[in-house]
Amino acid sequence: MEIRFPTIRLLMNVLMLLVIVVEFSDSQIHNSGFPQVVPNRQQLFQAEPITISCEGLNGLTGWRVMKKINGDVRTCASTWETSTGPCNIINAYPSSDSGEYWCEMGGIQKSNSVNITVTDLENHVILEIPAQPVMQGENVTLHCRKKDANSNYTAKFYKNGISIGSSSSGNIMAPNVSKSDEGLYKCSIADAEESPESWLSVEDSGFPQVVPNRQQFFKSEPITISCEGLNGLTGWRVMKKINGDVRTCASTWEASTGPCKISNAYPTTDSGEYWCEMGGIQKSNSVNVTVTGKYIEMKLYVNIFSPFIIFSCLVC
Ligand SMILES: *[C@@H]1O[C@H](CO)[C@@H](O)[C@H](O)[C@H]1NC(C)=O
Ligand SMILES: *[C@@H]1O[C@H](CO)[C@@H](O)[C@H](O)[C@H]1NC(C)=O
Ligand SMILES: *[C@@H]1O[C@H](CO)[C@@H](O)[C@H](O)[C@H]1NC(C)=O
Ligand SMILES: *[C@@H]1O[C@H](CO)[C@@H](O)[C@H](O)[C@H]1NC(C)=O
Ligand SMILES: *[C@@H]1O[C@H](CO)[C@@H](O)[C@H](O)[C@H]1NC(C)=O
Repeated sequence: MEIRFPTIRLLMNVLMLLVIVVEFSDSQIHNSGFPQVVPNRQQLFQAEPITISCEGLNGLTGWRVMKKINGDVRTCASTWETSTGPCNIINAYPSSDSGEYWCEMGGIQKSNSVNITVTDLENHVILEIPAQPVMQGENVTLHCRKKDANSNYTAKFYKNGISIGSSSSGNIMAPNVSKSDEGLYKCSIADAEESPESWLSVEDSGFPQVVPNRQQFFKSEPITISCEGLNGLTGWRVMKKINGDVRTCASTWEASTGPCKISNAYPTTDSGEYWCEMGGIQKSNSVNVTVTGKYIEMKLYVNIFSPFIIFSCLVC
């Protein structure tokens, strides 16, 4: 009989723990993301095509591409029914397509927005600058493009109105970008005037996605680590460092660009650092996963009041 009270207290602690875990995963913050823009740039000449979609946004469907042109907000697609698909602009036109674009779901969840500028026929210069934020550490090339040009020309580049250099190939590269490279950029070409200005945003290098979203696990629990949502790019691999040993998280190199599924977490082989890597150069931030040796039977989650389970928990 005496064992009853500590037993119940232990059970209560376990229950509390489960409740905390559930609340935590409910309140996780979702990165609001950006619409996908193809080609990935903010400036277009009149009559060029562009596609804006909500792909890659949080794995959910039901997103709609919205636009705000001269203060007027509407779906980017011409009808509400087709507006959950990508928005294809075949012939961009300055007054009807220059503006702000974002994704929206149920009128509540909103992504960040991107600004698209379509130049009119008189303007012969655009700056090719990415529409989606670039990741910290990336080398970003800005291209100053002259309409109908088939030879190289010297372009001057400006950030926040201040000259940052010129280039005879029309390209300028910002290597290893950081937050301090954010700003308004434009370029000019001697005999063809200058481009509109656009904002370059630089994003923190992101984190791998861990499901369930926590850092500590019991032995035998399943864990999935993936590179989803990282910069909309493919080719990321989940890497791990366990006791100083670095390797792909998946067992083979071929399968390693997919999610890394650990079906039975084990303290010595799975506790460690996990991150995403692309081409051996670009790296995300890392997360540390700890698997504790304490073994809790999965039955505990299901049949929580069985005296047998309470006993088996006392043993651990
Ligand atoms: C997009 O344009 C709007 C209106 O001109 C402006 O308020 C906003 O700051 C711009 N956003 C970016 C990311 O440049
Ligand atoms: C950036 O460029 C430098 C040299 O030009 C190169 O060594 C480096 O690997 C590049 N970084 C990325 C992320 O591509
Ligand atoms: C134009 O620039 C590119 C890249 O810098 C270079 O490879 C090419 O030879 C140049 N062409 C001419 C005609 O100068
Ligand atoms: C890139 O910049 C960061 C700091 O901004 C620095 O720690 C890192 O060494 C740089 N990488 C390269 C390849 O220059
Ligand atoms: C993860 O663990 C490593 C090695 O113990 C440590 O150096 C690093 O600071 C940890 N990172 C975080 C984000 O806790």
